[in-house]
Amino acid sequence: MAERQRTAVLISGRGSNLQALIAACAKADASATIALVVSNRADAVGLDHARQAGIATKVISHRAFATQTAFEDAVTAALVEHRIGLVCLAGFMRVLSPWFVERWRDRLLNIHPSLLPAFRGLDTHRRVLEAGVRFSGCTVHLVRAEVDDGPIVAQAVVPVRTDDTEDSLAARVLEAEHRCYPLALELIASGRARVEGKRVLTDGAAAPSGLWINPPEPD
Ligand code: GRF
Repeated sequence: MAERQRTAVLISGRGSNLQALIAACAKADASATIALVVSNRADAVGLDHARQAGIATKVISHRAFATQTAFEDAVTAALVEHRIGLVCLAGFMRVLSPWFVERWRDRLLNIHPSLLPAFRGLDTHRRVLEAGVRFSGCTVHLVRAEVDDGPIVAQAVVPVRTDDTEDSLAARVLEAEHRCYPLALELIASGRARVEGKRVLTDGAAAPSGLWINPPEPD
């Protein structure tokens, strides 16, 4: 079997997507291994998940650096030191500069809790509910300089219910995130997915069939 892709996960908080990635990479046939978790916050709960799994962790607080460049230099140094080949952003609450994004071009993944390119940015679920859309979901994409932009590796759709609150919708989307991120990481790490222009093409993957309508048609 080819050597596993050494992957870093960058977090700022809860780290539930990190947990899903750790669990997926613990499987015998995984193409990636989580070799480092970096948090810009020392109190990120996700750090505990990493420590429990025996994964190297590093806290690099953006506040300790005078400039964004100096902060990103420190993150890059940690990634290089740990011989990282792929980077997953998972609830990492810092915008990265075009320099950093280019440095990791096509090796830097992000997850966003909407069906991009709709609802980029923060407060996603509130804006989804306000807009009255009938479906939401999540997107794993390769990162480009623009926030929440870049070639899409995987998406999942969840219905929006009329009685949804931000919390109930977030919980439903989060379940989808925990399935989509491991899938996307595996596709990239194994080389089954490759970038062509603005799209990601995946070997041997047919789109699922079926049609969802919300609200449902009467019987
Ligand atoms: C997720 O909803 C993710 O889509 C967004 O931030 C949240 C992180 O959650 N980018 P967690 O830290 O992985 O639990």
